[in-house]
Amino acid sequence: MTLFTSLVEKETPMILVVDDVRANLELLEAVFMREGLQVSTALGAHAALEFIAENRVDLAVLDVMMPGMDGFELCRRLKKQSEKFFFPVILLTALNDRSSKLKGIESGADDFISKPFDTSELILKAKSLLKLKSLQEELDHSENIILTLAVAMEARDPYTKGHSTRVSKLALDFVNFLGLHEKDKEEMKKAGILHDIGKICLSETLLRKPGPLTTEEIEMIKTHAILGEELCRPLVSMKKILPAIRHHHERWDGSGFPDGLFGDDIPIMARILAIVDSFDAMVSVRPYRDRRSVQTTIETMKEERYYGQWDSELIGYFFDMMTPLTAKGYRVDA
Ligand SMILES: [Fe+2]
Repeated sequence: MTLFTSLVEKETPMILVVDDVRANLELLEAVFMREGLQVSTALGAHAALEFIAENRVDLAVLDVMMPGMDGFELCRRLKKQSEKFFFPVILLTALNDRSSKLKGIESGADDFISKPFDTSELILKAKSLLKLKSLQEELDHSENIILTLAVAMEARDPYTKGHSTRVSKLALDFVNFLGLHEKDKEEMKKAGILHDIGKICLSETLLRKPGPLTTEEIEMIKTHAILGEELCRPLVSMKKILPAIRHHHERWDGSGFPDGLFGDDIPIMARILAIVDSFDAMVSVRPYRDRRSVQTTIETMKEERYYGQWDSELIGYFFDMMTPLTAKGYRVDA
């Protein structure tokens, strides 16, 4: 992470100040410029929205009392527009009462400054939010690199190309079907993409060997679960999916790897991945056989439901999800 961040040239953060009084804009502009920050000003909410549509802005400082659209409403709109990334907003208000603060929190504001404001307090709060935004971006950057690597890794092998993307998509469909929490869905999506990332540490010759593999080679391939966990461990944002990566080859009967976990001890995300991963492997082409149809795969999995590989209750839900889809001609795109 240090290597990547040090190679990325950082732009000076851009602050947008929004007020309906020109003199206030000039004052705030001077305050931020003295700190070496880039500042733009907008006279009113509509001008601000127009500016943001065309320009990069890292922090918005909004006056609350503005005619037409007030600062609360503008804040709400800006937060809605930036749902997927962190866009800090400071509300500047003459009102120091509790209800306006509550209204500000409701609209999604990250901090407040009461007028007449203390310049050093404003700068401190602005800088701390900009720092937070910058850290968030570094994190996203590192996360994107690792996700891209995962997809690039499988593209080396025609037999695994697209596997992690398909596993991620189907695992997400499955957690949607199970009605899991929104946050879990995001984690599941990432875990699907990254479950085999450890294979990036293994030789291409070994991964592409048409088989049969020696005992030593099989043991080597098994290490990908632990290697994947190790690779993702430095990223804080991956913390929750580490167990899914490490345990996606555990078996319900305890005969899986790397830890031989048994039954409910296997994390739920890993149990979901085990099912979806097997499904995708079965419907995909392999060096030694053609692809199986979705219907045949589901029938085979039903026959093997109680063989001890999967959580038999969970896979029941998977069948419930797949049966109507299969009847409608569900296809797996290679
Ligand atoms: Fe795997």
